[in-house]
Amino acid sequence: MALREDLALGSRIAAMRLGGLALALRGDPVARLMHKPWRHDPYPTYAVVRESRRVIRSRTGISAVATHALCDQVLRDRRFGVRLADGRAPFAPDSDEPSLLEPVDLSLLGLDPPDHTRLRRLAAPAFAPRRLERYRAEAEAITGRLLDDAAARGRFDLVRDLAAPLPITVIARLLAIPEVDADRFAAWGRALGSSLDGVRSPAHAHELARTTHEARALFVDLVSRRRVDPGEDVVSQLVGALDAGSMTIDELVSLAQLLLVAGFETTTNLVGNAVRALQTTPGQWEALVADPTLAPGAVEETLRYDPPVQLTARIAHEDTEIGGVPLRRDSAVLVLLAAAGRDPEAHPDPDRFDLNRVPTTGHLAFSGGVHFCLGAALARMEGEVALRMLAERLPGLHAAGRTVPKTATILRGPRRFPVAA
Ligand code: HEM
Repeated sequence: MALREDLALGSRIAAMRLGGLALALRGDPVARLMHKPWRHDPYPTYAVVRESRRVIRSRTGISAVATHALCDQVLRDRRFGVRLADGRAPFAPDSDEPSLLEPVDLSLLGLDPPDHTRLRRLAAPAFAPRRLERYRAEAEAITGRLLDDAAARGRFDLVRDLAAPLPITVIARLLAIPEVDADRFAAWGRALGSSLDGVRSPAHAHELARTTHEARALFVDLVSRRRVDPGEDVVSQLVGALDAGSMTIDELVSLAQLLLVAGFETTTNLVGNAVRALQTTPGQWEALVADPTLAPGAVEETLRYDPPVQLTARIAHEDTEIGGVPLRRDSAVLVLLAAAGRDPEAHPDPDRFDLNRVPTTGHLAFSGGVHFCLGAALARMEGEVALRMLAERLPGLHAAGRTVPKTATILRGPRRFPVAA
């Protein structure tokens, strides 16, 4: 990227930030979700949007919905998609060049039917329940090793030493990434995950471009190796589709990249947010220690109460209305998944974390409609294994320092979480 382009991108980002901050200071809820200090604790902002019980329009040009019913409706409504009505990507410039503001191709997440339907059908078998059982044994073995190391040290960082290495190792196995590439692979996952909130600076855009380039090279290499030596992994399964002409190599590479981004930090945040809620709500950690089979309930309650993915967005494909509020074709709506989890009309006493809760309504932490999380069962299994084994092996676990949150709008979880066994 030339210096002139860097300067242009830098000033565009700065202008967007300043404009957003000015709106946030004037109380615009959508702008507040993107800016400090409000995004540190977004739940009061979610409550403002939800209490209107309708689509709210923001001066940012983006609307938002926050009740369970409206979020569910938008996610399932076929009049909404993730691209513009004419099929272009939302931030793409008019040329065919990839946008610097959205430089990472996230495969399924950025596609509408029929491309989305075709690729999702090809990817789905890799997540069938039968395969999941094999990954459970692996997740248990990995968690056991990580907890042995952590227990030997006494004090450790829950994110660095358990919540991050567990899912990254599982995805590396899923894609059959060679052991030697594991550290690089984790660094790419972190870098690409940071693209979800948009590009922060020209340096960030460069980092993402470099990471995409390197990850692509690894996946292309992986494809040629699996062609001659197929295994049970996802790439081996997709090579068949590639050879049959049902997908292109670019589509395969983007899909592999998506699995890396979608399956890593999300699951890290699930474990981090769960342990935090369990530790800070009186009696909850003790309840799990007394009966570690409650771990699945703790996972579900975390997904409702403080989900790893806080929001997503949809774009109207025609002039339409939601709950009587008109929306123009190509206008964007934020779907505040985390706000829906605290909707009192769907979840009684919603601000209370209770691992024994008997849900009256499902949560939307894995989204809904055609983009429903493909890895939901895998994530639930990893979360359950981590929480159950933590409670069994380290019953005296407690916070041992200040938890540092990540600074992000979409992905929410601790960055550092010092604990002692
Ligand atoms: C607790 C952990 C996780 C959470 C909270 C989560 C959440 C989500 C959400 C909210 C979406 C849909 C976004 C939208 O509607 O725009 C999604 C999609 C997706 N997730 Fe997950 N996810 C998790 C773990 C995983 C894992 C472990 C994998 C796989 C390794 C995975 C793979 C995917 C894929 C492939 C999609 C795209 C589906 C599509 O567009 O059709 N996720 N996830």
